[in-house]
Amino acid sequence: ARPETTEPELAEPHLRAVLDTAGLAVEYVRAQDNTLFRLDEDGTEIPVTDFAGGYGSVLLGHNRPEIVERARELLASGTPVHAQFSSHPYANRLAAELNRIVGRELGTDEPYFAIFGNSGAEAVEAAIKHAEMDRGMRLAALRAELARHTASVRAAVAAGEAEVTSRTLAGAGLDATAPGGDFETLAAELERHNAELFARPPLFLSLEGGFHGKLAASVQLTHNEGYRAPFKALAAQARFVPRERPEALKEIWAEERGTLRDVRVFEGHVEVTEREFPAFCAFLVEPIQGEGGIHVLSEEFAAEIQRFCASIACPVIVDEIQSGMGRTGALLASARIGLRGDYYTLAKTLGGGVAKTSVMLVRQAWYREEFEIVHSSTFAKDSFSCHIALKVLELLEADGGAAYRRAAERGEALRRTLESVAADFPGVVKEVRGRGLMLGVEFHDQSGSASPALREAAAGGLFGYVLAGHLLHRHAIRTFPTASALNTLRFEPSLLLSDAEIARLDGGLRDVCAIMRDAAGERLAAG
Ligand code: F0G
Repeated sequence: ARPETTEPELAEPHLRAVLDTAGLAVEYVRAQDNTLFRLDEDGTEIPVTDFAGGYGSVLLGHNRPEIVERARELLASGTPVHAQFSSHPYANRLAAELNRIVGRELGTDEPYFAIFGNSGAEAVEAAIKHAEMDRGMRLAALRAELARHTASVRAAVAAGEAEVTSRTLAGAGLDATAPGGDFETLAAELERHNAELFARPPLFLSLEGGFHGKLAASVQLTHNEGYRAPFKALAAQARFVPRERPEALKEIWAEERGTLRDVRVFEGHVEVTEREFPAFCAFLVEPIQGEGGIHVLSEEFAAEIQRFCASIACPVIVDEIQSGMGRTGALLASARIGLRGDYYTLAKTLGGGVAKTSVMLVRQAWYREEFEIVHSSTFAKDSFSCHIALKVLELLEADGGAAYRRAAERGEALRRTLESVAADFPGVVKEVRGRGLMLGVEFHDQSGSASPALREAAAGGLFGYVLAGHLLHRHAIRTFPTASALNTLRFEPSLLLSDAEIARLDGGLRDVCAIMRDAAGERLAAG
């Protein structure tokens, strides 16, 4: 409900009104550990157990005392938050620490260079820009090489060492019944063919259900059409690969690839040869899709993606913004799937729930130092965020990685509960998915429910939000559906999650499942 106030409502009033229809527009006044607090009519705090976890940004808990203490120290000591274009040893230390952990998890000692940003989408944008800069430099080198070959063949023709024959024309895909002829006509035709390819915009690959942010470029790699389509004209496009269908990779490649025409002299003929055009800028992949409904990438499909990308020299950008930072029991969820990224993006929990920060890592073999001169942000790589992120890594790594083990163990305990609910309501729960503290429960579609309230919620696209409103008001539980999979509720609590909190969720979920089973929409909280 809208608070009593005389102020005009100008900060996204429409969104607030939409949330209100499901009873979700409540105000939280305080956050601690795994709890958010709202006020009842008398101003008394009502604790709400938080399973949304800032969509993955508070793995260590809301206002984690060690992090708050570090923030206090930094501000009290006058840390130089704004000191762009200077030396940033704290950023370097953070990059080194990230490398140490990533190297351990991947079993590699090849370094990853770090470009810092402020939000998840910004790290994705930096990765996209870097990949396109690299592709542009590879294209320029290729173009120069083709021009050198043309010049040397031209010289050979002028010297009478080679001629353009019908064999030449066949190789160029030209009319091979023609008698051959003039090299300049051929060169112009090849140049026209190649120029068309060089003028193509970059093409990205992303998975169906993928979510990589909502900025101008990153939203084009986000599958949800509602987010993406209005902004199509603003940025390069992606082909969306169906999940777990490796054949689709080759099909898309066959449709989108291009071949450049090169020339050389071979046995006295001018010969036209083909060179693969680097059409694909990067392949973005979440090891566990978050916003798309909690789908874990299989080891098999990850291996196919890896092989495919290596075969066409397309870098793999592993988006760990939601799955990373310890949530699944390791810094990188992808490491456990056997997926190795040429790039990684990390954000959310990197800032400990306090700082807004993100990072994009690029493997040395792909890294272009020129990028450092052309990409920056006023707020990125600042001392405050870097020191907070260092504290986050220290907390994750303490006691031989106790936090990772705790995330995995709490995840298992939560999963057991979700599965026991699923087993007791087989007609209602379709599937339990996820890993560690990144879990989802998908319900069967209720658009055929005998209950008008459930039917209408399902038809109106608000189904999961109506369940979330009920869980909030009846059970003091905060969870949400994933925005692109409305029948899936997502659970990403902090690793402080207690057995009592799990038990409360168990009760709440059994209640909503019984409402669906009994088609008893009238039992839903009014909000
Ligand atoms: N990539 C992934 C995998 C994400 O889950 C998100 C955000 C982003 C990028 C963008 O990060 O919001 O900091 O710019 N996911 C949230 C969600 C919004 O609903 O899952 P951001």
